[in-house]
Amino acid sequence: MLIEATRLSKRYGDGPAAVEALRDASLGISPGEFVSIMGPSGSGKSSLMNLIGLLDLPDSGSLRVMGADIGSATVERLAELRNRHIGFIFQAYHLIPTRTALGNVELPMAYAGIPRHERRARAEAALDEVGLTHRTNALPATMSGGEQQRVAIARALVTDPPILVADEPTGALDSRTGAQVMDLLANCARAGRAVVVVTHDAAVAARGTRLVLIRDGRILRDSPLPASGHAGQSRAA
Ligand SMILES: Nc1ncnc2c1ncn2[C@@H]1O[C@H](COP(=O)(O)OP(=O)(O)OP(=O)(O)O)[C@@H](O)[C@H]1O
Ligand SMILES: [Mg+2]
Repeated sequence: MLIEATRLSKRYGDGPAAVEALRDASLGISPGEFVSIMGPSGSGKSSLMNLIGLLDLPDSGSLRVMGADIGSATVERLAELRNRHIGFIFQAYHLIPTRTALGNVELPMAYAGIPRHERRARAEAALDEVGLTHRTNALPATMSGGEQQRVAIARALVTDPPILVADEPTGALDSRTGAQVMDLLANCARAGRAVVVVTHDAAVAARGTRLVLIRDGRILRDSPLPASGHAGQSRAA
């Protein structure tokens, strides 16, 4: 299993004002799985994603990512696990505005220890994979939302991580552009990656192989989805 979360809990703040964002959440995710996470606003979806993506640490419970026990990892080891094994995609793209598409996609390779002379070719290949060869030298402000999100996906994929974590990746996109983004993520799962996607949109969630429902910080349901939902459509053009 790539991700093994057991009874994770996460609390923000202290005393009477504390918020129990996650309570005893357990989840195992294997290569090739495409997991959709749904739940009301404030139910703990992003909190769970931030733990799985090693952006935050749980208050209790255990988490193993690629077999490594997160609870006993040093800060340096956590950063290394994150850089090598996890690709992140956010609703708001989080591209660096002063860097071109290519420059944004090249960035994580430095942290992942990929040799300098390989970076450009790999970034170009990743942009090709998301159908953006023609926008290589464009700045984010000159790109559409869908194009920016595809740059963000190329950036997440360029280090070839086995785990992709996407928190509302289609939240700011129209449904057609959102479907292209989901096509790309479905391809990633078919290629053997573990893909975890938070969404408010049932049609987006239906593209997964598995649906996890969260409410009040607890996992209420975790069930397989019918294969028809994630049958691939067109590659993003
Ligand atoms: N940094 C923080 N400090 C304090 N409380 C927080 C923090 N982050 C989240 N929370 C609280 O924890 C709970 C879960 O938040 P979380 O962001 O995980 O929800 P969510 O399911 O992602 O919601 P949404 O669908 O609105 O994105 C909420 O009550 C939220 O207000
Ligand atoms: Mg959220």
